[in-house]
Amino acid sequence: MMISLKFLLCCLLVSSCAYATIVSHDGRAITIDGHRRVLLSGSIHYPRSTTEMWPDLIKKGKEGGLDAIETYVFWNAHEPTRRQYDFSGNLDLIRFLKTIQDEGMYGVLRIGPYVCAEWNYGGFPVWLHNMPGMEFRTTNTAFMNEMQNFTTMIVEMVKKEKLFASQGGPIILAQIENEYGNVIGSYGEAGKAYIKWCANMANSLDVGVPWIMCQQDDAPQPMLNTCNGYYCDNFTPNNPNTPKMWTENWTGWYKNWGGKDPHRTTEDVAFAVARFFQRGGTFQNYYMYHGGTNFDRTAGGPYITTTYDYDAPLDEFGNLNQPKYGHLKQLHDVLHAMEKTLTYGNISTVDFGNLVTATVYKTEEGSSCFIGNVNETSDAKINFQGTFYDVPAWSVSILPDCKTETYNTAKINTQTSVMVKKANEAENEPSTLKWSWRPENIDNVLLKGKGESTMRQLFDQKVVSNDESDYLWYMTTVNIKEQDPVWGKNMSLRINSTAHVLHAFVNGQHIGNYRAENGKFHYVFEQDAKFNPGANVITLLSITVGLPNYGAFFENVPAGITGPVFIIGRNGDETIVKDLSTHKWSYKTGLSGFENQLFSSESPSTWSGESVPFNRTMTWYKTTFKAPLGSEPVVVDLLGLGKGTAWINGNNIGRYWPAFLADIDGCSAECNYRGAYYAEKCQTNCGEPTQRWYHVPRSFLNSDGDNTLVLFEEIGGNPSLVNFQTIGVGNVCANVYEKNVLELSCNGKPISSIKFASFGNPGGNCGSFEKGTCEASNDAAAILTQECVGKEKCSIDVSEKKFGAADCGGLAKRLAVEAIC
Ligand code: GAL
Repeated sequence: MMISLKFLLCCLLVSSCAYATIVSHDGRAITIDGHRRVLLSGSIHYPRSTTEMWPDLIKKGKEGGLDAIETYVFWNAHEPTRRQYDFSGNLDLIRFLKTIQDEGMYGVLRIGPYVCAEWNYGGFPVWLHNMPGMEFRTTNTAFMNEMQNFTTMIVEMVKKEKLFASQGGPIILAQIENEYGNVIGSYGEAGKAYIKWCANMANSLDVGVPWIMCQQDDAPQPMLNTCNGYYCDNFTPNNPNTPKMWTENWTGWYKNWGGKDPHRTTEDVAFAVARFFQRGGTFQNYYMYHGGTNFDRTAGGPYITTTYDYDAPLDEFGNLNQPKYGHLKQLHDVLHAMEKTLTYGNISTVDFGNLVTATVYKTEEGSSCFIGNVNETSDAKINFQGTFYDVPAWSVSILPDCKTETYNTAKINTQTSVMVKKANEAENEPSTLKWSWRPENIDNVLLKGKGESTMRQLFDQKVVSNDESDYLWYMTTVNIKEQDPVWGKNMSLRINSTAHVLHAFVNGQHIGNYRAENGKFHYVFEQDAKFNPGANVITLLSITVGLPNYGAFFENVPAGITGPVFIIGRNGDETIVKDLSTHKWSYKTGLSGFENQLFSSESPSTWSGESVPFNRTMTWYKTTFKAPLGSEPVVVDLLGLGKGTAWINGNNIGRYWPAFLADIDGCSAECNYRGAYYAEKCQTNCGEPTQRWYHVPRSFLNSDGDNTLVLFEEIGGNPSLVNFQTIGVGNVCANVYEKNVLELSCNGKPISSIKFASFGNPGGNCGSFEKGTCEASNDAAAILTQECVGKEKCSIDVSEKKFGAADCGGLAKRLAVEAIC
């Protein structure tokens, strides 16, 4: 209330807010210009796609029935060096917000600036960690100053462009901090004081729209406490005058290197949303609506993959993930149509037992109802106000007028799209790709052990490198006399390490490497090594694969070779240990090929086309290729490569690591949507490369002329299978109940043929449909051929009127279709 009055006052004084929208809340819902709203929102993170993709993604959000687009703001991307800012390219936050505005949508701005988000270091710049006396996310003056500085700067930028709703812009909500309530206990009293400070600081910025704090059940007024999770129907905000709001409905999950592909079923996402609105929710945001790609070194960690597809309604490339997209769109339409009753109605519930309840929202003008069946196994047939309803297990039926079921979360009436990859039609890859190569120049570090700085201590990688690179060399020279007790025949090097990946060399010889197991980033690596009498150069390469992004004090989780490092000598039963930890260590950040920009298309360096080596560590490869024809999204297949980084025409498309296979266990062909979802449920891709295909945004390509692909291969691989492909809809299927309208579309391409169609009780699934025991008299395939083939989309009335009568013994009839795009 306070906010709206303040802005009303402001509007009276400032003429430019003639178009200002007053956003407030009244305990039940967010109100916009005084009207209670049902708000559906979806997360799209601007740096996880390209500026060229934004209009299409946002438009698809709108067409999918969303009111708002939510994004975090990524501090470390915008302030890579203290007080030096970057808002260029896909970091152009203002342009992103204006694209939302151009589409006529609302925006939700989650400034954080701690964001988690599987983003490198949770969005914190590493220079922040390296400031003297720094402690994150607590009442530490240095931290609070920096957080306030960045937050204020973002708010000012946004205000300058008049992007808050209070100024006539699209942003209706802003967020400060992120899920601090999950960790507050670890910070004691200081944590409580910090969250109060966050609230006051945010409030003092006068954005004119409500502030939210997610997962913060002690959120100080007037901050609105919101819920994150797979289900938030049981959530109640701490303040009874706060609307029930859900900031993160996880539409799937993220993937780790070594992890499998997560899938959250469409039925379950829809169920969670419908339950939330059945139980008084009024604002819901999908995290993610479009996940996208962790380009460059933006992936969090350790070990978050380059793809951030998330099984979201829009896939990594921006294609509709069907049926998820379409089934949720229908749900949004139904919920919007009930906005008045949902936000103004009196709520009453009827309990049918066995976890079945009906909820009635009643206003003077009408009523809307939900029937929820939370039972995981038994379908329900219930008599509600004189009519029988079939409510499958783990589903919600929606009756906008309390009579007619117009939606059930488990009955999918939209198409399933089967995505296929097609070879590059512009050339005959992989055979046409001619590779040249050059070694990464490591002789200097390996043989001389000379770096940029020297210290008598082993340091955390963050401290030395400021996270300017994944790579940090730790080098030392040890003189060993033959009289030294450690000297002997059997000697080894023992390294206590927190390097995500480690390579060890002694006197230029690679003695071994190690890849930490996910979750076990503190380990001891020991390998036999040959030392010489006299000087020995020990060179260790520590590699990070994304810095941690979650948990109390995650910023202090060590990375690198934190030691101790020992030379071990064994003479008979005797083991002699020589501690090198306080030796003179020399450090060098990064690799010379990166420094010399070998990835740039203009790089003058010489490359050789002769005897291109395979399975060679620390090797650069380069080739040119023709852009795939058409406009469908492009991926590059990196099967055969080990681990490294890939660039297209100088654009870093992220870390690749096809050599890291997903666990063999834990996948299942069957996936039951019933019962609570958890990230390990319904996974696929067991035993396969964690990520084989990498997104190449069309805007990185020259459509005519040559394009360059450069790979830096770190552990050894074979590029001869590399090829470019496009991703599009191959075929579409549907299995729709009668009395619905089926929309079929090949995403802008014409439908080329109907492979199967039957109206009755067809069996099987997409790709294996078969006729059932009853079928309507008219030829369904002929009808669909007539109405759909040659068209980009068609819309079919699924009814006996269209397909003729079918005697299916009183059961509801279905139309099953498989169409080829
Ligand atoms: C939440 C967090 C998000 C994201 C999500 C998992 O806890 O707020 O930023 O990390 O988990 O994808």
